[in-house]
Parts: sequence; structure tokens; C-alpha cells
Amino acid sequence: MPIAMITGATSGFGRAAAHRFAAAGWSLILTGRRTERLEALEQALGDKVRVLTLTLDVRDAEAVARAVEELPDAFRGVTCLVNNAGLALAPKPAQEVDLADWHTMIDTNVTGLVNVTHAMLPRLIATGAGASIINIGSVAGSWPYPGGHVYGATKAFVEQFGYNLRCDLKGTGVRVTDIAPGMAETEFTLVRTKGDQAASDALYSGTTPLQAEDIAEQIFHVATLPDHININRLEVMPTRQTWSPFTIDRD
Ligand SMILES: NC(=O)c1ccc[n+]([C@@H]2O[C@H](COP(=O)([O-])OP(=O)(O)OC[C@H]3O[C@@H](n4cnc5c(N)ncnc54)[C@H](OP(=O)(O)O)[C@@H]3O)[C@@H](O)[C@H]2O)c1
Repeated sequence: MPIAMITGATSGFGRAAAHRFAAAGWSLILTGRRTERLEALEQALGDKVRVLTLTLDVRDAEAVARAVEELPDAFRGVTCLVNNAGLALAPKPAQEVDLADWHTMIDTNVTGLVNVTHAMLPRLIATGAGASIINIGSVAGSWPYPGGHVYGATKAFVEQFGYNLRCDLKGTGVRVTDIAPGMAETEFTLVRTKGDQAASDALYSGTTPLQAEDIAEQIFHVATLPDHININRLEVMPTRQTWSPFTIDRD
């Protein structure tokens, strides 16, 4: 059975993707920082498929490299890497945010994604045809909005990094996709607001946001396309989310 490695599997898209791949019988390498949630996932899925959990902070390049180097033989032939771990912080104007929050977003969404990709590239190239890297970007990588500042910029990095990777991976059979979701109801806003459940509930109320399972389905779809198809970018929004006109500062 093919193997998927999913970063940020303890919540949201990552956890839903773990369930989706498991339903199709894939073996799973599941990572995140919250060990107890990884254990719960292993309990839920371990009867059906082979599961390896790794408590891992993607920002720690050495720990990531070591974990990949020490993968047990049964989990070395990875077919799909889902670079999903990520977060937004500081939903305030740029001039009001803490610098530390910017650094955390860059360290996680950019450096962390690069750390995992660098460690996993030899494994994916060894798999060859049919292998894929699925990076979770965001509509924020293409469409600016107030309070998006560094978060949107990190997701623009994710998109461009993927395109550039494709150039270098020509001939290896390894595919690269940027899946860019719009508004989705996960723990994302709870994290972004540092635990403000009311703000999170308010954002998702009175409309129909994407659910984690919707994006998991897209991830699985991309991972299981015929070997010769590469989706470069897949932008997915709720039907009830669209763009706004430009705003004008007037006297
Ligand atoms: N929800 C949305 O509206 C939306 C829209 C577009 C894009 N996205 C992107 O989708 C991805 C998943 O987000 P989500 O919505 O599913 O949010 P979520 O429910 O908060 O899940 C985020 C996951 O990332 C992991 N993570 C965060 N920092 C990490 C670190 N330093 N090391 C390892 N794992 C880390 C978390 O695990 P631990 O805390 O256990 O480490 C968690 O499993 C993110 O890249 C996010 O930017 C979300």
C-alpha cells in the first residue's frame, strides 16, 4: 500500500486527510507537536492501516532531518508528502502586531515547510512516478486582505516554491501541487486569535465555510491522479466566499 506523510495531522485539514487516506488503505506517517492527539489518531486508525506517529515541530530542521533519516524500513517508500502544518497569527494591521508573531509564521509556514521538503525529497525521488508533494497554501497567497501581512506572504512563498520545485524535479516523476483553500472551519481561527472561541464562532456563523473534509477530499484526489497528471495549483473557496472591490482612502 502507498504511504502518505502528513504534517500537522493533529487538527483540521491534516487530521481529515489522515482519515481520508486511511479509508483508502494508505499507510500513514502522521506528525504534529501534540503527542496525545497523535496517539488518539493512531488508536482510531491503527486497526485499519499501518500508522507511524512522530511528535515533531517542523521548525526544528535537525529534528525533522533525523526523523526522516530514522524512518523504519516499512515507512521509507513515501508516495505523498502533504506539507500542511501551518498557522496564521495576529489578525490586526501590520503596524500593530508583535514581531514575534511574524517570525512564528515565517518559521512555521516557510522554514518548516522547507525543512520537511528538503528532508523528504530523496525519499520521494526514490519512489519516482506517482509520488507527489502537496503543499497547503492559501487564497491569502494570491489575494491581499487587511491583517493578512506576513501570513499571505508566507503562502505566496509556498506557491512559488512549488513551481520552482517542479522545474528541478523534471524527469523524476515527482509532482508538486499547491492547494490553496479559502475560508475553512478548523482550529485555524482559534489559533490565529490565540484562543478566542467567540471570534472563531463569529467568523464561521451565518455562512457555509469549507469543512476540513472538503479539503481532505481534494488532497486525496490530487494524490491519486494518474502519474502523468500534475495539478499545479488548486484554489478552493466556499461558494459563499468571493472577492471585494478595491477600497479607496478618501478625504
Ligand atoms: N482553515 C483555513 O481557513 C485555511 C485556509 C487556507 C489555508 N489554510 C492552511 O491550512 C493548513 C492547515 O490549517 P488548518 O486550517 O487545518 O488549521 P489547524 O486546525 O489549526 O491545524 C494546523 C495544524 O498545523 C500543525 N502545526 C502548527 N504549527 C506547527 C509546527 N510548528 N510544527 C508542526 N506542526 C504544526 C498543528 O499541529 P500541532 O499544534 O499539534 O503542532 C495542526 O495539526 C495551514 O497551513 C493553514 O495555513 C487554512
